[in-house]
Amino acid sequence: MINIIPKPAKSEERYGDFVIDNNTTIYAEDSLAFARDRFVDTVEAVCGYRLKVILSSETADISFIVDKKQPREGYIIDCTTEKIYVYASTKAGALYAIQSLRQLALADLIDEPESLSIHAVYIEDYPKYEWRGLMLDESRHFFGPEAVKSLLDMMAFHKLNVFHWHLTDNTGWRIEIKKYPRLTSVGSVRKGTQWKAWGQNNIEWVPYDGFYTQEEIKEIVAYAARLNIMIVPEIDVPAHFAAAIAAYPELGCFNKEIEPFVGHKGNNPGEYNIIACAGKDTTFQFIYDVIDEVSRLFPAPYFHIGGDEAPKEEWKKCPACQKVIAEQNLSDEEDLQAYMNNKIAVYLQRKGKRLVGWNEILKGKNLERSIIPQYWTHQPDNRVIEWMASGGNVIISKHQAFYFDMPYAQIPLNDTYNFTPEKYGMSKNKHTILGVEGAVWTEWIPTQLRLDFQMYPRLEALAEVAWTPENQKDYNEFLKRLDKFLPTLDKMGKIYCPMHMVHSNCFKKLFSPLKFTKRDAHFEFNRAMQYRRRKRVKKSKS
Ligand code: ACM
Ligand code: ZN
Repeated sequence: MINIIPKPAKSEERYGDFVIDNNTTIYAEDSLAFARDRFVDTVEAVCGYRLKVILSSETADISFIVDKKQPREGYIIDCTTEKIYVYASTKAGALYAIQSLRQLALADLIDEPESLSIHAVYIEDYPKYEWRGLMLDESRHFFGPEAVKSLLDMMAFHKLNVFHWHLTDNTGWRIEIKKYPRLTSVGSVRKGTQWKAWGQNNIEWVPYDGFYTQEEIKEIVAYAARLNIMIVPEIDVPAHFAAAIAAYPELGCFNKEIEPFVGHKGNNPGEYNIIACAGKDTTFQFIYDVIDEVSRLFPAPYFHIGGDEAPKEEWKKCPACQKVIAEQNLSDEEDLQAYMNNKIAVYLQRKGKRLVGWNEILKGKNLERSIIPQYWTHQPDNRVIEWMASGGNVIISKHQAFYFDMPYAQIPLNDTYNFTPEKYGMSKNKHTILGVEGAVWTEWIPTQLRLDFQMYPRLEALAEVAWTPENQKDYNEFLKRLDKFLPTLDKMGKIYCPMHMVHSNCFKKLFSPLKFTKRDAHFEFNRAMQYRRRKRVKKSKS
């Protein structure tokens, strides 16, 4: 069994092992020198010595060769007992070959080895999707630069390449905008945090804050680029906008003074969401100014504007919003949101960027064709299917498979792993799918431990959905590889959901998963931590 996650497109075991030690030499053609150096760094981090770089492919033990036939992020590893050839057409492909070699050598598992042994193998590998994403919500909870970099490392290890960064929401604005300093001085601070569950009103009244300076963002974006990860920022408009309105009340329809939310207080749209006024030129100026500053920090050709869960009550009552509807001949408030989306999409296009938004953005008519909906809703949305039929691109984050903040009892690991577009009515026009993305909303994720628990081993399943060809995927076979992979997560200090809890039957007798989410969002995690403690005590006694 070749133990790589995500499973390669094609692989074949050979006889014997290739051994990397202090005498191993390495060569790379110029355009792959970056990858060669990363390989040298990796071996040094594990074994403590630097491999000798030489200038001859023939005599080197490991050679990185440019092969233009390889797909953009693909690679070949041709490893015998004598030599390793890595073929790639780009730096990205070569970096992924290194991630595969790292897993084959168990480089993250062995304690200070003097050498690394790689079972001889031939691998031909390339991704299924070009968009292999993970979203982190840092508005509800803020994790900081070191946690984000560590997450980026883990994404690269799993060959994921898009980090979607949810930086603004009702509960906190987390990115410095120099033209609007109150966004962070006021908008990043809330008075407390709702902590128990969606349906519960338990608030811990301890002030909570945090944001990224532009300098920190630049450093993180550069860090990601070295790992072949593009960062797509999300600035959510028009809804999920309370933190911005708290800073600048004139951004709302009625200039109401509000504070950043302490959480999701109820289920009335008006209670859980606050919306920007679409009738004021100053709102658009604000959005354009923010886009200008954010775009300078993120070179990605995509920009996420959220656009989800936008309640229209205020727009219905607001004279300014109604005036735009009349002047522009729009039929209703949904069309007003489409009008807003289009204006922003055109503004972004001038910067060479495509607008991405959650699939609710398709509710209005006559949308710009460059817009990309991200399909998340639990309910089927025919507009997405129609969008695909007319040639529009989509990204898929279906709640039932990719909402990693949900309990495993509700979204079991097999539902993530066995995701296919067909299951959700997307059997036609699959070529329009840019890819898939896991979403980690952090209402109930206050700590790194909890974040890890929700993500692992879902990140491994996501990686195979995003990368591995459908005909190579098999859930039971994946579980066997995962079993061999988990010790590496242990060694890396990552918490993961114990395997007996990743399937939905675990808590069936206690109560339904939905009640679970509404009563105590920490129940499953607390049970898992108890289990881990018991296991540790048992181990230390034996
Ligand atoms: C979402 O979960 N509201 C995108
Ligand atoms: Zn308005």
